[in-house]
Amino acid sequence: RHLLETWTVPSFLPAAQFPLTRMRRNRRDDWSRRLISETKLSVDDLIWPLFVVEGSGVRQPVASMPGVERLSIDLLAEEARRAADLGIPAIAVFPSVDPALKTPDAAEAVNPDNLVCRAVRAVKKAVPKLGIICDVALDPYNSDGHDGLVVDNYVQNDSTIEVLCRQAVVQAEAGCDVAAPSDMMDGRIRAIREALDQANCDHVRLLSYAAKYASAFYGPFRDAVGSKSALKGGDKKTYQMDPANTDEALREVALDLSEGADMVMVKPGLPYLDIVRRVKEAFAVPTLAYQVSGEYAMMKAAALNGWLDWDKVMLESLMAFRRAGADAILTYTAPEAARLLAK
Ligand code: PBG
Repeated sequence: RHLLETWTVPSFLPAAQFPLTRMRRNRRDDWSRRLISETKLSVDDLIWPLFVVEGSGVRQPVASMPGVERLSIDLLAEEARRAADLGIPAIAVFPSVDPALKTPDAAEAVNPDNLVCRAVRAVKKAVPKLGIICDVALDPYNSDGHDGLVVDNYVQNDSTIEVLCRQAVVQAEAGCDVAAPSDMMDGRIRAIREALDQANCDHVRLLSYAAKYASAFYGPFRDAVGSKSALKGGDKKTYQMDPANTDEALREVALDLSEGADMVMVKPGLPYLDIVRRVKEAFAVPTLAYQVSGEYAMMKAAALNGWLDWDKVMLESLMAFRRAGADAILTYTAPEAARLLAK
């Protein structure tokens, strides 16, 4: 039967009919549109992911992410100051590590003087009030390009966790405020919490990439940090989630919360807003979403072709995250969005 035949006015709504009810009345003017808008997007909701490389005065464009660059530490600190001046609460720092330093045991991940630790120290010194988030995962350091240690062609869970704990501690000791495990190993949240607490880093927050899918939308990011060539066309399906699943996302989030996560994340973003909504409704905890590299690349490519209005489509996409229930959004558009929102 046709939908209209079976549809009745819900009891909480008056059974008004046209022309008594005109939905367009409230939309008529800017002032009334503003009054009835249900969702707010503000600079307070934005986290800016940045890529760091060795050197000084270095700016390397990321080919698959027009407008995004890898920056040496000196320039990263300048951008961090710019972010803070714009009111952005926090940045996430991702290292693009010299391939010569990548090994099967990912030893560079636990070097207290590695690129990301030096970057964190420099940013903290330059802009103490800016929150700094660091990934906890081995893919920038691993010659296999995987988030964990590979033995017999399988990413090992428990031995990876031991390295992740040491990685989280060196990053925290460098001044990182939020440890963000993005590796999807089972049980790592609890282990990392304990390791941080033992290292007198109980103030360091844990942002769990709880519902992280094995997604093709991470492609440009893997270019940016150079993990794509290491991965040699492989995928991460034995630890990242199947895009077909949603109940499993709730289980992942429940486990990470029980293990001590302070905030949880859903990733990717726009194609997974149903997951954001379910997580927020089920747990009512700080829920973040990551508008990942491939999402940025899609919007940017269309905008550069003149097919989409970049400013409008970017803000609309961020509003969609908020409407779905995301408390904050990791987005490469953060400084541009912040500037537009300040107008
Ligand atoms: C690595 C990591 C990835 C991203 C954040 N941390 C890629 C991956 O899992 O392969 C993706 C971010 C993006 O695509 O913007 N642990």
